[in-house]
Amino acid sequence: MVEVEERVERWVKLGAEGEIYAKEGLPERRLVEILRELGGAAELRELRSRLGEEVFRIGLIWAKRNRWIEITRVDGKPCMKLKKYPEEKTPAEQVLNLLLEGGRRFEEIPESLRPACLKLVDRPGVVELVEKRTHILKPTELLMSLGPEELEVREVTRLTQSLIASGRWRELKLSRFDIKAPTPPIFSARRHPLQQLIKLIKEIFVEMGFEEIRGPLVELAFWNFDALFQPQDHPARALHDTFYLAEPRFGDLPEKFVEPVKMAHENGGDTGSIGWRYSWRVEEAKKLILRTHTTATTIRYLAEHRDPPIKVFSVDRIYRNERVDWRHLAEFHQIEGIVMDRNICFRDLLGLIKEFYSKLGLKDVRFRPGYFPYTEPSAEAVVYLKDKGIWLELIGMGIFRPEVTIPLGVKYRVLAWGGGLERLALALYGLDDIRTFYLNDLNWIRGFPRIYLDRRAERI
Ligand code: PHE
Repeated sequence: MVEVEERVERWVKLGAEGEIYAKEGLPERRLVEILRELGGAAELRELRSRLGEEVFRIGLIWAKRNRWIEITRVDGKPCMKLKKYPEEKTPAEQVLNLLLEGGRRFEEIPESLRPACLKLVDRPGVVELVEKRTHILKPTELLMSLGPEELEVREVTRLTQSLIASGRWRELKLSRFDIKAPTPPIFSARRHPLQQLIKLIKEIFVEMGFEEIRGPLVELAFWNFDALFQPQDHPARALHDTFYLAEPRFGDLPEKFVEPVKMAHENGGDTGSIGWRYSWRVEEAKKLILRTHTTATTIRYLAEHRDPPIKVFSVDRIYRNERVDWRHLAEFHQIEGIVMDRNICFRDLLGLIKEFYSKLGLKDVRFRPGYFPYTEPSAEAVVYLKDKGIWLELIGMGIFRPEVTIPLGVKYRVLAWGGGLERLALALYGLDDIRTFYLNDLNWIRGFPRIYLDRRAERI
């Protein structure tokens, strides 16, 4: 009945970033200008501080691409040298100038500048390319030849509010639905399986009367190790296990705890222990690392919350310098918690952990002796996986040693535990490769049954 003609027009206009560049100059131009002012060479640090991080970074990339500059080292310091100063306005700059007067059709850009214009389109926020589509409908001869009778609408596909209100629907013929017509699949929004488990774990802790706490990912070695009575030559502190920050390397120590912790390490201080008997170095404790366990977070919390009762947990990210394989990740999650109160003992800890895992559907949890520098006694909880025929380690646990609690001024017993989340998720979901969780494979995520965790008890 009608012919449709589509017209496509391409328009270009300045983006938010482009406005700024058009007025203040492109970052690469500003960079080489300053470089020329400074006599053709300068330290990177100097340029960065003059231009600001953002302009410097973008300017550096493009100036290098344009071969205007080169990076060298002078006296071991990274420097930039001017190779070629662009005397004339570059095509990119000409395009920006042109667009400063307003957006225009792409064809209005002189042909010689079009490649530069398209390159600016690729830079985020600089130049925007929009397609404007217009549809022009023309009646065909057939339509024109029809009389008023034939033109009357006979079938209605959509029942509108006005058709109902006016009662006109009574006279109309409604077209039938074809309920067998193919349709696109619909995927409803849902949580990632790992997030489902995290949510469930948090619910269980809250059910059991715990509060959630969080702490920094970038942590002082002091909280991650020293406050936990982990000696400074402990192998876990070595580079091959722990990620240390290059910049900034050090953080500020919590002054009031430094001396007592140092004493605990050197000779036991007031803790009744003889300590590790070495000389404790403050520089080591000041180092910044990516936390290797969430015990850093609970001990940090404990140092500031010394009045009983305390029942807190965290489910959070940690980092270890591991080679990634089917059982290991370098970045993963731990489930962690502490309880501090006047009359609690090791058996409360065992009961708590049993209760927690049983709420997850893991009924057959057993305990075996363990060792951690910060707890005594210590234990590990393990669960038997029927389908794999193995004992899976769930968690490490114990009572914080006096060498840990006394330097922080904590007067009561503290039950503590912590363990990996991803391996537990593998077991609960019956998967084999820990990397599955991080592949972002949409097919896998979409196909994952939402009810899985509710049936968890039957699985294990
Ligand atoms: N932090 C230990 C780990 O990463 C677990 C643990 C936490 C052990 C608290 C004892 C007490 O394995």
